[in-house]
Amino acid sequence: MQKRFFLSAVALALLAAHAGTALAQEKFKIGLILPMTGPFASTGKQIEAAARLYIAQNGDTVGGKKVELIVKDDTSAPDVTKRIAQELVVNEKVNVLAGFGLTPLAMATAPLATQSKTPMVVMAAATSSITQASPYVVRTSFTLPQASVAMADWAPNNGIKKVVTLVSDYGPGIDAEKFFKDRMLFNGAQVLDTLRVPMRNPDFAPFLQKVRDLKPDAVFVFVPSGAGAALMKQFAERGMDKAGIKLIGTGDITDDDILNSMGDVANGVVTSHHYSASHNSPLNKKFVAAFEKANAGLRPNFMAVGGYDGMRVIYEAAKVTKGGNGEALLNAMKGQLFESPRGPMFIDAQTRDVVHNIYIRKVEKVGGQLYNQEFSTITDVKDPGKAK
Ligand code: PHB
Repeated sequence: MQKRFFLSAVALALLAAHAGTALAQEKFKIGLILPMTGPFASTGKQIEAAARLYIAQNGDTVGGKKVELIVKDDTSAPDVTKRIAQELVVNEKVNVLAGFGLTPLAMATAPLATQSKTPMVVMAAATSSITQASPYVVRTSFTLPQASVAMADWAPNNGIKKVVTLVSDYGPGIDAEKFFKDRMLFNGAQVLDTLRVPMRNPDFAPFLQKVRDLKPDAVFVFVPSGAGAALMKQFAERGMDKAGIKLIGTGDITDDDILNSMGDVANGVVTSHHYSASHNSPLNKKFVAAFEKANAGLRPNFMAVGGYDGMRVIYEAAKVTKGGNGEALLNAMKGQLFESPRGPMFIDAQTRDVVHNIYIRKVEKVGGQLYNQEFSTITDVKDPGKAK
């Protein structure tokens, strides 16, 4: 009898100890799916580095739970993104999915977010319609209509009356083309042609030749982060600048990740975007210095800031919900308003999309290095793609 009592007491104690450690080890899991290899690996590298920096600065417990960041490479293939997301939801039971380096990768995963009621933080992809693909999507990157409309308001006031557009032939490029063109026409300018180049391994040469023949004041370009250097190189090789054709576009073409290696052809290029590593605020200076220090001098680009702010949105929601998930976690992401390294930032509770400033910037040499120097600000820009 005594022995029996003793044994069950031991069993109870063991059980309690086990439950205790289980509680102490309860995790808040973030499944971060990114292109870590292939032509868009720079996006994955930037966002992973930013997420790790955020954790290093803000601690690896949130809402009473230990944060586990699970990083997976989708090689920028949509079917792989979707399969990884499914595994993370079903096997790992992640609280939140995050990352999404390209529009097709986000679109492939959105139905799964809806079915499994898993919040999905889009840190990179920027086609307007992504937030409409699932009520569980929250975006911390930007939208192409935000940046493109700003450029179409600046250009005609600065001697650019005739343009040709040249965009990557998929979601964000088609958004950029449409919103830039419509606004240029509204502003009384001329759009001579709209050219689309393949998204993967583009050869810009024949398209740039076409632009040359049309003799516009400027060519407006969107290519996804990572492809800007090839575009710049071919632009210079074709002698476009010498032919008097200006290059303008969204800030994706003068991406901070590779801007410094583009050389003189990039100098003077005017673009519109939500983030520059040279954004003049104490918070950004701190962010850039910490990022460069943690990553062997790598300069953060707009992808990094989307990842860093995405982590902020996730952490704050995890705090409010004590490490929650599903709709509660999603609701705690909506309406967040804070200062980002990009400037003021707001997650619109209705659209779940980002509202932020768009800056007009010019590439200039600062201390021997090329930077996108912001010189004009359009404040609190909502996604024009949601206006209809
Ligand atoms: C996208 O696929 O949505 C995308 C990728 C890279 C960018 C912008 C948009 O720079």
